[in-house]
Formats: sequence, C-alpha cells, structure tokens
Amino acid sequence: MCGIVGVLGNHEAAPILVEALKRLEYRGYDSAGIATVSNGTLDRRRAVGKLVNLSDLLVHNPLAGKSGIGHTRWATHGAPSVTNAHPHKAGPVAVVHNGIIENFRELRSALAEKGYHFSTETDTETVALLCQSFIDAGDAPQDAAFKTIDALDGAFALCFLFDGENDLLVAARKGSPLAIGHGKGEVFVGSDAIALAPMTDQVTYLDEGDRAVLTRTSVEIFDYSGAQVQRERRTIAMDSARIEKAGHKHFMAKEIAEQPTVIAEALNYYLSADEKSITLPDPGLDFAEFDRIIMVACGTAYYACYTAKYWFEQLARIPVEIDVASEFRYREPPVAEKTLAIFVSQSGETADTLAALRYMAGKASRIVSVVNVAESSIARESDIALPILAGVEVGVASTKAFSCQLTVLALLALEAAVQRGKMSAEDLAEQLGKLRTLPGLLTRALDLDEVLNAVSNDLSESRDVLFLGRGMMYPLALEGALKLKEISYIHAEGYASGELKHGPIALIDSHTPVIVFAPHDALFDKTVSNMQEVMARGGKVLLVSDKKGLEVASDGVWQTVQMPDVPDLFAPILYAIPAQLIAYHTAVAKGTDVDQPRNLAKSVTVE
Ligand code: M6R
Repeated sequence: MCGIVGVLGNHEAAPILVEALKRLEYRGYDSAGIATVSNGTLDRRRAVGKLVNLSDLLVHNPLAGKSGIGHTRWATHGAPSVTNAHPHKAGPVAVVHNGIIENFRELRSALAEKGYHFSTETDTETVALLCQSFIDAGDAPQDAAFKTIDALDGAFALCFLFDGENDLLVAARKGSPLAIGHGKGEVFVGSDAIALAPMTDQVTYLDEGDRAVLTRTSVEIFDYSGAQVQRERRTIAMDSARIEKAGHKHFMAKEIAEQPTVIAEALNYYLSADEKSITLPDPGLDFAEFDRIIMVACGTAYYACYTAKYWFEQLARIPVEIDVASEFRYREPPVAEKTLAIFVSQSGETADTLAALRYMAGKASRIVSVVNVAESSIARESDIALPILAGVEVGVASTKAFSCQLTVLALLALEAAVQRGKMSAEDLAEQLGKLRTLPGLLTRALDLDEVLNAVSNDLSESRDVLFLGRGMMYPLALEGALKLKEISYIHAEGYASGELKHGPIALIDSHTPVIVFAPHDALFDKTVSNMQEVMARGGKVLLVSDKKGLEVASDGVWQTVQMPDVPDLFAPILYAIPAQLIAYHTAVAKGTDVDQPRNLAKSVTVE
C-alpha cells in the first residue's frame, strides 16, 4: 500500500508535503515523490527508496509552489524505480494513487490504440493518461477527473493536480481511506489523519465512492451517483508528539515499552467503575444469541485470534473457527445461523480482512471488529467496533497492538463466559483482578531487556530459529517466529511443541536455536518432554519460563530467561514481551532496518 497527500496552502507546499509523507512512510517506502503547481506550471521530483532521498533531492533541486500532491510507495505494479515512482504525470495532469486499478490493462490497451504512450509499468500511469485523454477531448479538469474515476475498477484513493490550476485538487476514495483536512484558507488531503496532524485537527473522512473537489476556500463532496453530499467534520485528537520516538532508538522499542501503559488504558476503558464487570461500547453484545464464533484476520492480528480461540472455547464453551483473511474470503465458507463474526485489525484497513468482513455482512448474526484505528473502514462497517486503544503504532512490526488486541479479546471472552452462564460474577471479578496485575507484570518483563539483548546477540548469528509452545503458548510461538523473520530476516518457524516429532524435529541440529515458551502451567510437563526430545538430538534450547519452571527444567538447556509469575490464562500477553524483545534485539544486532523492514508495509490495503 502507499500513502498519498495533497495541499492547497498559503505557504510553500514542498516542506508540508514532505512532513506529511514522513507520517505516512509506515505505509510504504520503496520510493517517494511530490508534484506542485507554481505560477501555473506543474512540475515534480521523485526519488527511489526512503523519503530522506527525496528530501535530499529537494535540497539540490527544489520545487516551488503552494499547491501540491505527494506519495510514498509500496510497489505493486512495477519495480521500485524513479520512473515508476508517483506522482505520475500525463500532459497537464499529475496523479498520486494508493491501491490497485484492476482494469488498467483494458484501459491501457484502449489508450494505446488512441496513440497514448506509456513509459512506466504502473497501473497509476493509466489513470493519469486517461484523465489527460478527457482533457484532450475538451473536458475541464474536474470533469476529466470525474470521468476517469468512473472508469476505474479496483480499490483506490486518488488525488489529482492540474497544470494551470493553482487552486484545485480532485480527490476520490473507493476501497482505500482518504481524509480531508480543513485549515484556515487552506485544505489538505491525506491517506490518514496522522499525516495531517501538524496542519489541522479538523478532518472529514470520505465515504466509499466519494469524490471531492477542493479549493482553498471550498470542499465539495459528491457520492458515487454524483449527488452532492455533506460528510461530517470531526475534531481529531491527534497529538503530533505521539509519533515521535520519545528518546528510543526505534519506534518499535518505544512501542514495546508502552505496553504497560496502553494495556492499563484499555482495561480502564472496558472495566466498570467497581472493576467487577465489563462494559462494552454501544450497542453491546448478547452472547446468548450465538452458537459459534468465526474470527478472521491477517498476520499478527491472526495470532491474536488464535490465542483468543483458546479463551473463548475454554471460558465460554463456544466453538471458534479461525482463518487468515486471504483464505477465508475466497473459500466461501457456509455460515451457520447464530454465528458471531469477529475481525481483528490494527489498521482497520487491511484489504483481505475488509473483504472477509464484507463477505460475512448479511450472513453472520453480528459483526464485531477489534481495531486500533477507530475511524477505519473495518470499524465503520462493523455492527460494533471494540477499540484496542494502543495509540498510534508506527513500527511495521506490530507489538503493542498485539498485546492490546489480546487484552480486549480476553475481556470479550470473559464477558461471553459470564453471559453464557459459564462463569459466575465472583469468578469474573477474580479474573479481572488478575488482569489488573498485568501492567505491573509487563513492566517487570521489560526489565529483562538486557538479558534478552545478550541472548539475541547469539541468536543473530543463526540461519534458522524454531519457536515452540503448547496450548496458548502455541500461537505465541507463531507470533515470535513472525516477529523474528519480519525484522531480522532470519528464517524462523513456530510449532506446537507436541507436533515437532511429526516432522519438524528433523530440522534440529546444534546450530538451530529452539526458543521454548513454557510458563509453569498445566501443560508445562508436556512441553518439557518435547523440549527434552529436542535436546536429546543436540538442539540448543532457550527456555523462557518462570521461577518454578526453571527450577525443574533448566538442566542442559542452552540459555534461560526467567519471567515473572503470571496467572495462566493471561500468560500469552506477558510472554509477548520476550518474543518482541528477542526479535528487536536480534534485528538491531544484525543491523537491519527495524522500523521499516524490507519489502513490507505497515498496513496492506491491496490483496
Ligand atoms: O493492520 P492489521 O492488523 O490488519 O495488519 C495485519 C498484518 O498485516 C500485520 O499484523 C502484520 O503481520 C505485521 N507486520 C506483523 O508484525
């Protein structure tokens, strides 16, 4: 996915566009570019790689003008190169685009037949050329942009800028989010409100199918049918300081460290004043209405669902099916009556998760989303959106969002258990009391930073790493492996520890560290048996357990990490800390780009 911005301002546009793009760089960093109109003339600058390369280019080759558009790219069509970088320009029009134009090949052929020449491999160039073709045929810029938008299939957010037009932007949203920021005699466009935070806190989100015609003094919005519509203007609580590193070397380190605070905030939000019951946002949920739950998500959010499956099934005795959204959306599963569908997404914009949600609309009895971005598409298309309150997460590797997702899902499972008569009010109060201890325990786990740093130095030499866990620690093993591979580029796999002997044990040798998450719980002895099987084959084990666990099972292991004791039920939330810190320190030791790992983007709004 990509980030797009636009400005019609009273100051030079280039620095404003670059600052806004900096805030969107989490969406992609394969290339960046801006275009401005100065004295009626459209011009652009583009650079491959991170935004800093564009900033450097602008120092030597500045771009004047108070109107402009900008883009940070996560490549879909065409390799990262200057030629393929946005903005794409065709004659008098420049375009920035987030998403995918599905019918670009057909449009491209038709335009080629008319004699239009293509110089990039991107789908976006087609948008610019199509718009140019309408202008060439005599349409005014606004009409040409609208006709272009009407001709496009796919998911996109677009912003158009025109030669000779110092006071005009056209923006459109279909499938990819877009916000309009209102300034004093200025107007802004951004893929999300974070981009606009330094300029304004007055924001209007476009709805699906909307297009907007913007000048410095007017914002006209039209729906997909062409009817002019009013969309709500909101004041966004968007403190710009929240996307600073606050003294940390990386956003990821800051976000790991924030977990005690954000989890405490999430608990404050959901617990009643006497802390004995759970309050869900309106319209609430009645779990007596459901016979089963389907949970769908991607990546880390999927592992949060996997963990929650254990909670819902054990506590509320309700069957839970989980799936990754990219599979779920196409396997067209039958949906039984009385099904509750839960979609988990940090960004709330992940294309596969959103498509899965749309598949379930009208089939499931209720649709719940568990999201970090309250204004996101997934939140808005759900019957009830449960905020995880993690705050802005910038690091591509999800950390605090994961633990906040787990916290909210644990609360939901407890609420389901009580509503379904599987847990008494007294037992709920006891469990909530235990959950309340989590922020303190997380703080103590964060104190293991140095120990985990030392271990990670050794791990950084490895080619492969395995993660093992049993029960609720199994999804955490999967998450630990995902975290490690995505930022350190070390090959890692997570396995259910009991499954190892059915094949993966063949991978064990003295060079392959095996990280075992095993709090001293009811399954501990079983996990230790599997760990012994690894050590018997020369495997080197890093055992992450508590005092009791390490007392009985440390013999012969390569390294140990002693975690604080934690109530069994909530151990996955605590043990997320070592999983994250191991990945973080290993990546730092390897010198990779921790916050913006190669090939990735924070939120994937394309299939
Ligand atoms: O925004 P979402 O939670 O829907 O994103 C889902 C995944 O793309 C995301 O969790 C991804 O796996 C992270 N980079 C993992 O750290």
